[in-house]
Amino acid sequence: MAVLAINGGQPTRTKQFPSWPVWDQEEIKNLTEVLESGKWGSLHGQKTSEFEKLFADYQQAKHGILVNSGTTALRLALTAAGVEAGSEVIVPAYTFIATATAVVDMGGVPIFVDIDPDTYNIDPALAGEAVTERTAAIMPVHFAGRSADMDKIMALAQKYDLKVIEDAAQAWGSEWKGKRVGAIGQAGCFSFQSSKNISAGEGGIILTNDDLIAKMARSHNNCGRSDDGQWYEHYFFGGNTRITEFQSAILLAQFSRYEKLKKIRQDNFVFLNNELRKIDGIEPLIENPSVTSHSAHLFIFRYKKDHFSAVSKQNFIEAMRKEGIPTSPGYSIPLYHQPVFKNRSFGPHGKTVDFPVDYSTVSCPETERACFEEAIWFTQNILLGSRDDMRDIVAAVLKIQQYSDEIKNV
Ligand SMILES: Cc1ncc(COP(=O)(O)O)c(C=O)c1O
Repeated sequence: MAVLAINGGQPTRTKQFPSWPVWDQEEIKNLTEVLESGKWGSLHGQKTSEFEKLFADYQQAKHGILVNSGTTALRLALTAAGVEAGSEVIVPAYTFIATATAVVDMGGVPIFVDIDPDTYNIDPALAGEAVTERTAAIMPVHFAGRSADMDKIMALAQKYDLKVIEDAAQAWGSEWKGKRVGAIGQAGCFSFQSSKNISAGEGGIILTNDDLIAKMARSHNNCGRSDDGQWYEHYFFGGNTRITEFQSAILLAQFSRYEKLKKIRQDNFVFLNNELRKIDGIEPLIENPSVTSHSAHLFIFRYKKDHFSAVSKQNFIEAMRKEGIPTSPGYSIPLYHQPVFKNRSFGPHGKTVDFPVDYSTVSCPETERACFEEAIWFTQNILLGSRDDMRDIVAAVLKIQQYSDEIKNV
């Protein structure tokens, strides 16, 4: 008789994991306040500037500029930092597409670099090899909440005079050697989109310690206006990418419980890390002691199918889901293989345009291994579960391993 749930056996669990978002009366109170004030936009209300200050302080940055998404934050930060159209910008090949499309959007040329298989963050040595006389910036992603190696990135930036724009979309409260990420480089960008550990449905913020970058980001976010100009006087190129007071009201409430939830996620992260590591063929990403705080946005391990009767990543994930564990393959396509990049479909209706790089010839072996064979993700809401929930995850992996022979016959 079949034992694994994928073959009709009893699942490891049927209980749901915690759902996301988490909210309570605080969100309702703040939202009602904005509604009743009639000040619904950030130009008139106070919630946006209140959150900007709170979050910038929390990340140890001088300035915060709230915008309508993490994607917008990246695009505006590049321009505000002075990266010119036509410049090359180094990005990891294993990240959300916005890291790279933000570069195309501001007229730049993304150059994809492979990841370090131990951390899934950009490999600084390979980033160094990718520098040319056209390189203007590097965008390390603090992937899953684990800080990139900011010592090596900043050294590289200094050597070649590059701007560093941190993609910290997943890294609220994360640290490198005790320093909060986001303003270690010239600027850093965070996301508050639905899946994120602090969410307002949509939203993003640019952090910087640089007064000029802050001024330019604020202007680009507000139709190119200047603080001291007239209302219909537009000095710089910009659009309306402002956030609403309703979103800022939610962000304030979300932020008020962030540390408490962060601690729960981190404790579960450490437990999973210790327990899953004991299983042959399960290799959680490596914890570098320089990463002194981790937002635990994703828990990731590398799956080695040789220890699971050669069951593929996709079949393993399916078996886990049937056991009652929501398990994600994560990014399944390296960015340079995405149709938009492979075909340079940057024109209207996907029209192929002339572009300085032919992405169809790019190859990053570690990124491909992660996408196709090894990377397995658990999302942050899973990490809000109880210790028993975490034990169920470990039990499901062990069960699948023990009976992996069964899966080959599916
Ligand atoms: C690494 C990374 N960069 C950028 C973004 C873009 O953020 P948003 O979805 O808020 O535009 C995200 C979020 O999805 C992300 O995970």
